[in-house]
Amino acid sequence: MQRERLLKVLVVGDLGVGKTAIIRRYVHQVFSHHYRATIGVDFALKLLHWDPSTVIRLQLWDIAGQERYGNMTRVYYREAVGALVVFDMTRASTFQAVLKWKGDLDAKVALCNGHPVPAVLLANKCDQQSHGMCAKLPKMESFYKEQGFLGWYETSAKDNTNIDKAIMRLVEHIMASD
Ligand code: GTP
Ligand code: MG
Repeated sequence: MQRERLLKVLVVGDLGVGKTAIIRRYVHQVFSHHYRATIGVDFALKLLHWDPSTVIRLQLWDIAGQERYGNMTRVYYREAVGALVVFDMTRASTFQAVLKWKGDLDAKVALCNGHPVPAVLLANKCDQQSHGMCAKLPKMESFYKEQGFLGWYETSAKDNTNIDKAIMRLVEHIMASD
């Protein structure tokens, strides 16, 4: 008999950092340069054949960047078991916002056991490093640990860099702490 697990994972970060693009790459293997801001929240589902007896229904909640200024996040965050916090490595302001998003998560949602929801940090648009702030990035190796992230990855939705890896890091952690 196969068992099914439903995992609700939030994708948060400032406007235009690439949350929707990351999800579209991961779920549909496509990328577009066209930008259309997400309104409120969007959903995507990916089935993972985890092991011979387990299917994961990975439900990705694509939260609009502009929602940080709204009041709906508490509702959207409910019953989440993991999060991806995304910034755009070509825009420093989006990196500064990472702590606000992480703080918002930790203030509004927790696991049943009271622990913070596990989160992975994504430095997206790494294909554009040359016009970026990378040199100015603080020492990420200490930053992500101090801020309570499981890990961090340089990602590109455009080139399909590290997206699977980052999401697997999160899902493996969630499945291991069952
Ligand atoms: P909101 O819905 O407003 O919160 O934005 P978002 O975080 O969902 O951003 P979205 O995925 O819509 O991407 C914003 C813009 O950045 C789009 O024009 C994308 O094509 C572009 N983009 C996203 N990811 C990448 C990437 O990895 N590399 C490059 N070069 N562009 C990217
Ligand atoms: Mg979006």
